[in-house]
Amino acid sequence: MDLSIRTGKVDDALCIAALATQTFLDTYATDGVRADLAREVFALCSTSAFEAHLREPQIAFLLAVRGPHLLGFAQLHLALRNAGNTAHAGCEIVRLYVQPNQKRRGIGRALMEAAHTRSRAAGATTTWLTAWAENRRARAFYAAIGYTDVGALPYVWEDQTYENRLLIRPL
Ligand SMILES: CC(C)(COP(=O)(O)OP(=O)(O)OC[C@H]1O[C@@H](n2cnc3c(N)ncnc32)[C@H](O)[C@@H]1OP(=O)(O)O)[C@@H](O)C(=O)NCCC(=O)NCCS
Repeated sequence: MDLSIRTGKVDDALCIAALATQTFLDTYATDGVRADLAREVFALCSTSAFEAHLREPQIAFLLAVRGPHLLGFAQLHLALRNAGNTAHAGCEIVRLYVQPNQKRRGIGRALMEAAHTRSRAAGATTTWLTAWAENRRARAFYAAIGYTDVGALPYVWEDQTYENRLLIRPL
């Protein structure tokens, strides 16, 4: 069965939350699970958190599916907002998660192509996102699909500050 990309609906929140939880822990809990990370994943990746996002008119979800299976998703903010404190304005790719056992099969690229098309339709000439500085795989992926690193943008959760990189791409 072929991969297809479709728009997410509120009913998809359960599977999005499960895939996001798995991918978040695989990506960020690289030295084991700490309490702050556990609180973060349960707060940000719960079914109710995604139901709320899916109901927001300014947010779009693109799902990579094969038959009944969710393989990855992109979450976009469609309002044209400035990238951090730069003058670059465009749509933000808020999340891009491919299930760990589905990586390196072109799913991330396909989701980003769909996200770029959706962003152009929203009037954007740029897309932007942030990536954890230590997330080398993601940074290599974004460089491969045309994103440029324009600086640091710290991310704070509880008492921890993480170095995120701000990446932009003209459409
Ligand atoms: C980053 C991520 C979205 C990439 O998705 P993917 O489906 O694995 O990537 P693709 O197969 O579409 O890769 C496209 C190209 O990106 C580059 N790339 C992807 N993964 C790479 C890696 N681990 N190392 C180096 N280059 C990589 C390659 O050029 C690749 O093309 P190729 O396979 O023909 O060489 C995926 O690894 C993921 O979900 N990671 C965990 C969550 C995460 O980090 N999300 C981003 C947070 S900012």
